[in-house]
Amino acid sequence: MKLGDPEIPIEVREKQAMAAATPVPAFSRDEVKVIFVLGGPGVGKGTQCAHLVRDYNFVHLSAGDLLRAEQAREGSEFGELISTYIREGKIVPQEITIALLRNAMQDEVKTGRTKFLIDGFPRKMDQAVKFEEDVAVSEFTLYFECTEEVMLHRLLKRGETSGRADDNIESIKKRFKTFVETSMPVIDYYRTQNKVITVPCEKTKEEVYDLLKEKISDRMSI
Ligand code: C5P
Ligand code: MG
Repeated sequence: MKLGDPEIPIEVREKQAMAAATPVPAFSRDEVKVIFVLGGPGVGKGTQCAHLVRDYNFVHLSAGDLLRAEQAREGSEFGELISTYIREGKIVPQEITIALLRNAMQDEVKTGRTKFLIDGFPRKMDQAVKFEEDVAVSEFTLYFECTEEVMLHRLLKRGETSGRADDNIESIKKRFKTFVETSMPVIDYYRTQNKVITVPCEKTKEEVYDLLKEKISDRMSI
């Protein structure tokens, strides 16, 4: 890397070079507030986010919903790829998901909405790192914790009406495996930064929501 004008002192030139090499996210923490929402499949992330949207001024962006919409979009070059990954319970390459999230955030910010719940993301370490480098740094991560037994029950119930290609027992098993092997390390990573709020999710929706509100408001003014 060029170190700039030789007239400028070396320490200043080094600082300039460092700043140029450090990636700057598209949105600063002053412009947007980003909360990641993680937890195993079927834990109730979407349901709890919908409550927060109803009661507070959050924008809810579900990575899974954005991927399913892209998959269904006529003319999408990624449709088939997304559909295969979803059925197999695997994590779609981060470039696709991050581009979808970034576009959706841009549309919202244009209309003045800046508080985001990013649901089902980041599901893999590369998504976490790249999103925070390129798009925005998160405030914290909500981790909805639950046993697989309860999640399985909820997923099979949802599968009766959801029409989702992955709410069947074969896909569910793969999704549980991906969650433990690939997504838990993301939660562990944010734990080391003290950026995880854990919400136990075995109880009813209403009880979980009461606890969730309490825990969020301890951390930020909502
Ligand atoms: O969050 P949801 O259960 O709707 O995600 C459905 C599927 O979408 C996941 O099992 C995975 O295949 C894909 N996905 C992904 N990366 C994300 C979120 C979802 O690949 N960050
Ligand atoms: Mg969901």
